[in-house]
Amino acid sequence: MDGMAGSDHAASQGIDTRDDRSMPERQLAERKSMLRRDLLAARVRLSVSDRKAAGRALRDTVLGLPETGMAGTIAAYLSIGTEPGTAALVFALWKRGSYVLLPVLRPDNDLDWASYEGPDSLAPGPHGLLQPAEPARGVAAICSADLIIVPALAADRQGYRLGRGGGSYDRALARVGSAVPTVALLYDGELVDEVPAGPLDQRVRSVAQPARGITRLA
Ligand SMILES: Nc1ncnc2c1ncn2[C@@H]1O[C@H](COP(=O)(O)OP(=O)(O)OP(=O)(O)O)[C@@H](O)[C@H]1O
Ligand SMILES: [Mg+2]
Repeated sequence: MDGMAGSDHAASQGIDTRDDRSMPERQLAERKSMLRRDLLAARVRLSVSDRKAAGRALRDTVLGLPETGMAGTIAAYLSIGTEPGTAALVFALWKRGSYVLLPVLRPDNDLDWASYEGPDSLAPGPHGLLQPAEPARGVAAICSADLIIVPALAADRQGYRLGRGGGSYDRALARVGSAVPTVALLYDGELVDEVPAGPLDQRVRSVAQPARGITRLA
């Protein structure tokens, strides 16, 4: 891997090599896209029943979190493609009385937010997304969430996450205070040693995985 000698030296001195965020943007983008390709290929190999079981386990883990119990407002998302299913989780959060916000993708890839009012309150959006039909409340609405549940293809122990590559959640999470609990939903094996990260990449505070449950991150 590029620059290993330098990172080893820095690691032996206890220096976080990503603090200088000096990797050229193109190299960072290439490393992210290679990792994305591998992770997506692994997800494609999962069976439909694996994905459903993962969605059920993640639902139970998130519902059991103390942060969920205390949250009045929860920002979540509806899964697409090979992501672990979140429809049952979103429904359960709403049913238990939380105010649930779902993202509405803007043409500039930023995220607006609108309330989930049950399964009939959804409408098809871009990229095969199901989005809330309620009026959007603005990009800053995520700041009202007491718990934020985000998608990711992987995360590392420092909380750096790899998303689909739109930078949408980097923008959304940058608006949120560092004390707000954030949890990325992963499959087992997607909590990795290192996710390539640059100055715009935002961290999550925990990940949930089907078999491993919740892992709190640095
Ligand atoms: N706050 C920001 N403002 C403008 N552009 C941003 C911001 N954050 C990230 N970006 C840009 O978005 C693009 C994609 O970023 P990145 O590859 O990190 O996406 P990602 O984290 O995988 O996606 P997502 O956040 O949607 O899950 C990059 O070009 C990045 O520079
Ligand atoms: Mg990012």
